[in-house]
Amino acid sequence: MRAVIADGKGGPEVLKVVQIPVPRPAEGEILVKVEAAGVNRPDVAQREGRYPPPPGAPTTLGLEIAGTVVAVGPRVSRFAVGEPVMALVPGGGYADFAVVHETNALRIPEGLSMVEAGAVPETYFTVWTNVFERGALKTGETFLVHGGTSGIGTTAIQLAKAFGATVIATAGSEEKCAACLALGADLAINYREEDFVAAVKAFTDGRGANLILDMVGGDYIPRNYEAAAQDGRIVQIAFLHGSRIEMDFGRLMVKRLTHTGSTLRSRAVSEKAAIARALADRVLPLLAQGRVKPLIDSEFSLEEVARAHARMDGGEHIGKIVLRP
Ligand SMILES: NC(=O)c1ccc[n+]([C@@H]2O[C@H](COP(=O)([O-])OP(=O)(O)OC[C@H]3O[C@@H](n4cnc5c(N)ncnc54)[C@H](OP(=O)(O)O)[C@@H]3O)[C@@H](O)[C@H]2O)c1
Repeated sequence: MRAVIADGKGGPEVLKVVQIPVPRPAEGEILVKVEAAGVNRPDVAQREGRYPPPPGAPTTLGLEIAGTVVAVGPRVSRFAVGEPVMALVPGGGYADFAVVHETNALRIPEGLSMVEAGAVPETYFTVWTNVFERGALKTGETFLVHGGTSGIGTTAIQLAKAFGATVIATAGSEEKCAACLALGADLAINYREEDFVAAVKAFTDGRGANLILDMVGGDYIPRNYEAAAQDGRIVQIAFLHGSRIEMDFGRLMVKRLTHTGSTLRSRAVSEKAAIARALADRVLPLLAQGRVKPLIDSEFSLEEVARAHARMDGGEHIGKIVLRP
């Protein structure tokens, strides 16, 4: 079968489509014929050599898939051959076939296309666990998400709105801000034109945001402390501006802030299964009703994987980039 490797570290040109054996499903695993595979920024980090696969994970790229079950391993009880599924995979999603533990797969709700389903798992698992579990977002609270038009941001805006939060998003252009508003954000801040701290304070009558989901880090860390409300929470999911800074932590104590974070890929199959169960209960019904839906930026064939990554590197995409093996 075809799969994508990073042949060295670097730009999209290091991505190569190679032939490797079709994986065999082990106990509890299903083999999926991949029909769509989402592209995520962690894949870019892996390509650049900054995010090696965890031990035991495939070294081929790709963290999420949608497709049809074509074989099942021993003791599989939830899925049968022929069923359409979407799944979070620890690697190997950019391929003709991928194996995944059945507990890390979800049924595709009615009304969702394969391309849309392939764009769900990585951001929905990440947003659920960081915004609703770790960040404990509640109805009526104000939620600030940076990178509002990223795959993560477009999911976070919709889910936070669906669960009754007031949503503020930051983005780097007027076009991106308009997209955040179209997704339901109550306020979109073009951070190139406006100081997000002042804009958040003005919008909340000086109170600040109860929860902040941040992928930027660096100089945003002290500014997030300013933009957060009393007893606010800040959840860090990446450090696009770097993870080392010198700062005054006084605000943390005075405002009783909680600053936490997590990464998804390295978590145990059983932990991802717990997130999958919560998504099945709380979020699949919203997807089935069309109340939330992945925003698709563009589709590429597997052979065009370098172009897909170049689009992500360029940073002009709004929503998700999807490969169609
Ligand atoms: N911790 C976890 O479990 C986890 C899981 C999945 C993803 N992530 C992280 O979440 C982030 C978003 O992932 P994604 O797949 O949704 O990515 P994406 O669609 O490529 O979005 C990245 C966004 O970051 C903004 N940005 C700000 N500063 C940037 C910079 N210096 N370089 C590039 N972009 C910058 C860009 O928007 P503007 O143009 O508006 O600046 C862009 O929308 C990534 O950093 C990823 O590693 C973390």
